[in-house]
Amino acid sequence: MKPPRSNPSTARGARPTIDSARKIPPESDAMIQLHDVVKTFSNAAGEFTVLKGLDLKIKRGEFVSIVGKSGSGKSTLLNMVTGIDHPSDGQVVVNDVDIYTNFTESQRSKWRGRNLGIVFQFFQLLPMLTLLENVMLPMDYVDMYDFNKRPERAMDLLKLVGLEKFANKLPVLVSTGQQQLAAIARAMACDPPLLVADEPTGNLDTRSADTIIQLFETFVSQGKTIVLVTHDPSITSRTHRNIIISDGELIDETISRALPLLRHRHMLEFTKLVEERVYRPHETIIPRDQHVDYFFMIRKGGVEVILQGKKKDHIVSRLGENEFFGEMELLRGGKSIANVRAGGQPVEVLALPRADFIRVMNESPITAEALGKIVQKRLEEHQIADYRR
Ligand SMILES: Nc1ncnc2c1ncn2[C@@H]1O[C@H](COP(=O)(O)OP(=O)(O)O)[C@@H](O)[C@H]1O
Ligand SMILES: [Mg+2]
Repeated sequence: MKPPRSNPSTARGARPTIDSARKIPPESDAMIQLHDVVKTFSNAAGEFTVLKGLDLKIKRGEFVSIVGKSGSGKSTLLNMVTGIDHPSDGQVVVNDVDIYTNFTESQRSKWRGRNLGIVFQFFQLLPMLTLLENVMLPMDYVDMYDFNKRPERAMDLLKLVGLEKFANKLPVLVSTGQQQLAAIARAMACDPPLLVADEPTGNLDTRSADTIIQLFETFVSQGKTIVLVTHDPSITSRTHRNIIISDGELIDETISRALPLLRHRHMLEFTKLVEERVYRPHETIIPRDQHVDYFFMIRKGGVEVILQGKKKDHIVSRLGENEFFGEMELLRGGKSIANVRAGGQPVEVLALPRADFIRVMNESPITAEALGKIVQKRLEEHQIADYRR
């Protein structure tokens, strides 16, 4: 489904107007980069900051879900990426183009048509056009593909989403699930490398939702990048990465993976309180027989938990990315019974001060209980190790 054009001066991504906006070396591994993006709305009550300085990188080929409570800024964030709205401050780079510097509104709109597929919760098909005409519309708008090839390509896309039989129907004559499938076909009309979807299954039954997610998985396997906002946990479990936004700020992904049961506001608190540390291979992080002052989460690399034997030390467990340690001592009190050190590679950890950890655990019975179970299991492992040596 490549564009049939051969003239390089009109090929996608090579137009002078688009080239002049290129500041970033082409083909970086990032599809989306946000640098300190702020969005403030003004209304009668004054100024209201919805995005509070977001930094985010999404790589080419990633399938990313974004979740957050209603009003946390998810749609506003997507609108920064699509160029539908514009940031009050900061930089947005999509597919190597700084989309707010050097672009006029109409250049941005054309660029969007060629680079981005957008899917909304409420489909937004044009009601007086057939499904086929709806799918052809973006090709007409950015003048991609030969005029007489467009119907054929639109039909191919409708086949892909299983709607070829309905091609000549008006949107109102098909189900909501089918309308959304047609909207997805329309989003893919110009073969964009990036698909952005705002709660695409929010208005659908589970079966239609599943069809849509399978379709997204197919696109991802073909190398597309997909970013979608969703409330549905059955979707977030199928994406490569899940990003949480809380009150206009992004939660550290190591924290949300290490402590998934924590409330978003506590995750955000931790995000602001943690300190990043790097340890050299085999360097001690928690010495044995000492008070533990931090709760640690592993961002990169791994650690070894070591118990001292009479003759030699035993590695009782190895912990990897998004796992944590230090909780045992913090929850039970007392000194460290084991030595925790970096594995054979440098390890990056997030260290959260003891008092903050204890305070939040007291406010989060579900997380505390889940951690309690892990402590119990680890203690048992240690006792087994104790017994064996
Ligand atoms: N155009 C706008 N003008 C003023 N406030 C807005 C506008 N768009 C969104 N907001 C406010 O910004 C906040 C975040 O909105 P939104 O990004 O739509 O949240 P979400 O998609 O996570 O539910 C909300 O409080 C909303 O009322
Ligand atoms: Mg929204």
